[in-house]
Amino acid sequence: MDEIASITDTNLTETQFYNRADEINMLSSLLGTTEFNSSPTILLTGIRGVGKTALIKKIKHKFDKEYLVVDIDLSRSNVYQQKKLSRGSIIKIIYDAIIKVSYEHIPVPIFESEENYARLADFVMELPQKIYEDNSDKLKGVFIFIDEIQLIKDLDNVDKFLWYMRSFIQNQKNVAYLFCGSMSLKDSLINDLNGKEGAFGGRMLTIEIHPFSKQTTREYIESIPRNILLDDGGFERFYKCTRGIPYYINIFAKILPENITLTENNIIELFKDSIDYLAVHFIFMWSKLTFQEQKIIISLLGKPKRRIEIANTLEVTSGSLNRPLNRLLDFDLIEYVNDKYQITDPILTYWLQNSHEKNGIYPFRSI
Ligand SMILES: Nc1ncnc2c1ncn2[C@@H]1O[C@H](COP(=O)(O)OP(=O)(O)OP(=O)(O)O)[C@@H](O)[C@H]1O
Ligand SMILES: [Mg+2]
Repeated sequence: MDEIASITDTNLTETQFYNRADEINMLSSLLGTTEFNSSPTILLTGIRGVGKTALIKKIKHKFDKEYLVVDIDLSRSNVYQQKKLSRGSIIKIIYDAIIKVSYEHIPVPIFESEENYARLADFVMELPQKIYEDNSDKLKGVFIFIDEIQLIKDLDNVDKFLWYMRSFIQNQKNVAYLFCGSMSLKDSLINDLNGKEGAFGGRMLTIEIHPFSKQTTREYIESIPRNILLDDGGFERFYKCTRGIPYYINIFAKILPENITLTENNIIELFKDSIDYLAVHFIFMWSKLTFQEQKIIISLLGKPKRRIEIANTLEVTSGSLNRPLNRLLDFDLIEYVNDKYQITDPILTYWLQNSHEKNGIYPFRSI
């Protein structure tokens, strides 16, 4: 078997990609109905690192012989990196992805005056069905996968844009759309998309990808090409630390020593030693936060807090927390549950607590 997949790789090999048989079956049978003129619209959700992107790449490879599969990642776009995601740039990203998709013998009409947003948008949104109709002898249908969809929250008038997209999507009998993103089901975007009053008004099929179960995690560890031995307590603790999230399982499983049976206490120790690796994505994000945003997160380490409690801790007005709280929510670093804000991922909590324990201070940017 190949090495364990790296955490930056989502194009896993046959052997690196573990399980997900149920999810693959379900998605395959839904997407397969596109062949019979009843293309579904799917919303794939799940927490960060659970394996959504790896799963849709897998599905893409499964279908791209018979279907035109257009795979769009909004976070990879230059515009997003420069923080200027707009309706125009999304349309442009979709257009570029359709053109780039390497399906032999499929000619794609080219739009002449790209400057005119409204016309380009209509053209791009109609393009997938048109490609199908021009090539129905070669294609069973077209799939449009849009990953990191939660980023459209940045748009002004998200609502309007979703309704606009939906007006095309609903009429395309041979084009299946799959939106994918790390949002929780309580996210307001899900409501905008698929709530009663939302653009898709419940017609979108929502599928949540869950972390690996204990059983799957155990079998996965046994299947990887490292001889990791855990006694019962060791395994329980391993599962507690990684919560069955493949992203964390892969990092931790690469660090653990081979050929010795690890106990609960061993794993506790090793987890502590490995926290900088497990939290590597947070360390980067942390360095990009403002001092006030960092202070808000620190204030939430102990327990979830209401907005007014955060304001009191920071000795600022509640109103001044609007912007930083929204940014932290957008970054998915915190979530809002039962009128309180809380840190989304316990790994971030452990990393901060561990830094404090080691250095006597939190890693504030000004220090
Ligand atoms: N089925 C799997 N088998 C083995 N490893 C996996 C599997 N799925 C995901 N992984 C590992 O987890 C990592 C994260 O997966 P992926 O990027 O697909 O998660 P995601 O849900 O898209 O996360 P994000 O919300 O951050 O985009 C992968 O790079 C890979 O190392
Ligand atoms: Mg992803």
